[in-house]
Amino acid sequence: MARARLHYRCRECGTATPRWAGRCGQCEEWNSIEEIPADPTGRPSRAAPVELAAMDGAGGELLPTGIDELDRVLGGGLVPSSVTLIAGEPGIGKSTLLLQMLAAMARQGRRTLLVSAEESPTQVRMRAMRLGLVDDGVWIAGDTDLAAIRSDVANLRPDVLVVDSVQTISDQESGLAPGAVTTVRACAQALADDAKSGGPAVVLVGHVTKDGSIAGPRVLEHLVDTVLSFEGERHHSLRLLRAVKHRFGAVGELGMWEMTGTGLQEVADGATFLLADRRPGMLGSVVFAGMDGRRPILVEIQALVSANSSPSPRRSAAGYDSGRLGQLLAVLDRWAGISLHDRDVYVSAAGGIRIDDPGADLAVAAAIASAYTQRAVPDDTVLLGEVGLGGELRQVGHSPRRLAEAGRIGFRRAVVPRGAAGAADVIDLTRGAAAADRPVTAGLRVTGASLLADALDLVLTGQAVGRPQLQVLAGRD
Ligand code: TYD
Ligand code: MG
Repeated sequence: MARARLHYRCRECGTATPRWAGRCGQCEEWNSIEEIPADPTGRPSRAAPVELAAMDGAGGELLPTGIDELDRVLGGGLVPSSVTLIAGEPGIGKSTLLLQMLAAMARQGRRTLLVSAEESPTQVRMRAMRLGLVDDGVWIAGDTDLAAIRSDVANLRPDVLVVDSVQTISDQESGLAPGAVTTVRACAQALADDAKSGGPAVVLVGHVTKDGSIAGPRVLEHLVDTVLSFEGERHHSLRLLRAVKHRFGAVGELGMWEMTGTGLQEVADGATFLLADRRPGMLGSVVFAGMDGRRPILVEIQALVSANSSPSPRRSAAGYDSGRLGQLLAVLDRWAGISLHDRDVYVSAAGGIRIDDPGADLAVAAAIASAYTQRAVPDDTVLLGEVGLGGELRQVGHSPRRLAEAGRIGFRRAVVPRGAAGAADVIDLTRGAAAADRPVTAGLRVTGASLLADALDLVLTGQAVGRPQLQVLAGRD
């Protein structure tokens, strides 16, 4: 069967369709479908097929941004003529990060252009002065009409163009209102087309809100090469950058910054950063050997258990899934003799980080058990493992890397699911260069446990695995 030919195209969003319609099915614009002119000469297409092997080069060298955490996420730097979208909630620090990036790139001799719509050039300059970022090579434009941006780019020929934000570009030619989905999409498409035909690497800023009330980033995801998500809790200084989509490299790298009074400071050692406020010997405090994407991070999990005789005691989880907390409490009750029906339970991942990793279960359970039994988990111990409904411990991915990181920053003991390769093997694995790119500090003792109850015994009493000590302890409380 012959495939339907695409004879029509939407003027607004560029979607091609075989049939004419009064309204575009993609962007829902009315009267925007036009016929694609037929080509009666049968001349070859403008982009004639090329054999892959005969093509030269990889399309230009990367443009390192000069900010290591950003380059880590991008896999080395911006790709020339590519389009990157950086999405995040208003106020999270997108403008700050990009200003720092442009200054760092200018310092390497790149020519950069910032189109700033949300803040006037004067405001941007004031911020740059305050942050010590007034460098040659950073150009700024306050005109946010699409045509003006394109002509600025044509005149200045920058290596990098930042548009802050894509939701504020207008397109007077089309007469569409800034911020409307069609405008955002059409402007982004025009800039992407320019980039592709030898233009600058483009970085578009897109605001998102939790409830998705601002149009933008979602509708752009398919037309950009890279989507970065900049995240953080409003009342914490930690900021995380992740690649959600990346045509030129891996996703899953994590970049970490701290928002300070003088801009974003890179957090090169995420592990130490998140543990900085940890107090030794604290009840209900446990360190989880976590992983965010491909970056190992150590996170302090805290729990507080307090009496509450009302029929519905409180359960509160910050940075951890509350459904998962409920499940863990049921498992603790059923399989570890820790019954909390008459207690409030609060669990929190310290530092404003969100943990989606089921490998945190054991650490969360141990924090709760520690708070309940009033016994501290030794400070030099990290935990790792998923807890099954049968009270069993289950393996989690990347154990060697997680443990290597724990060993590197000085932890001495790890309790992991026994299934995670005969425990002792886990540590051997981490010594192999292939398994982890950091050397493990000798002396991290890894102990395996098959059951949650055994693991809790081990960390709360220091006893050998196998005897259910906790029932006794629980009775004292
Ligand atoms: P901003 O980069 O403007 O956020 P976005 O572009 O994502 O909307 O940064 C917003 C917040 O960051 C601002 O409310 C204050 C804070 N901030 C600092 O704490 N220190 C600084 O040096 C700067 C520049 C901003
Ligand atoms: Mg901004």
